[in-house]
Amino acid sequence: MSLLELFKRPGASGFGFASTADDVTQGLNLQGRTMLVTGCNSGIGYETVRVLAKRGARVIATARSEEKARAACAALSAEVVPLACDLAVPSSIRAAVRAVKDKGWRLDALIATPESWRCPSSNRPSATSCSSSPITSVTSCS
Ligand SMILES: NC(=O)c1ccc[n+]([C@@H]2O[C@H](COP(=O)([O-])OP(=O)(O)OC[C@H]3O[C@@H](n4cnc5c(N)ncnc54)[C@H](OP(=O)(O)O)[C@@H]3O)[C@@H](O)[C@H]2O)c1
Repeated sequence: MSLLELFKRPGASGFGFASTADDVTQGLNLQGRTMLVTGCNSGIGYETVRVLAKRGARVIATARSEEKARAACAALSAEVVPLACDLAVPSSIRAAVRAVKDKGWRLDALIATPESWRCPSSNRPSATSCSSSPITSVTSCS
């Protein structure tokens, strides 16, 4: 237990600083749902993929390269689909969108982990709007 956890109170949802992904998804049945998670090979992204798959969702798990995505998915369920998507490279994003559309998958949610939305300033495409703040974006697609 961290010191901060002792001071922070749970929010209106009943969840708080110490709540885990397992806690907040307890009792959810995500069978038949398809969700795409960016930055699947590390940190929050990996944990999000792991828990969504545990709850029965088909998870499209993206990482900057196919090798990273495959390595991350190797220990997870067969319903986790690895896909390359480098969010700093527009052609990589378009290829990932095409791959999802070609499979005919309809997304129920798109979960963008914070770090994966950042664009390195040296590699920032001029026509692309990028956020430098660590904001997790969860978009419901229904
Ligand atoms: N972990 C926590 O408990 C926690 C809690 C609160 C806040 N945060 C904040 O949330 C942020 C992320 O934390 P984290 O622990 O998940 O970090 P992390 O372990 O470093 O993961 C970042 C992920 O984003 C990916 N990524 C980076 N640039 C990308 C790009 N251009 N395209 C696609 N993917 C890209 C990374 O891929 P590569 O491996 O290829 O670089 C990696 O998979 C940080 O700012 C952290 O301070 C984390």
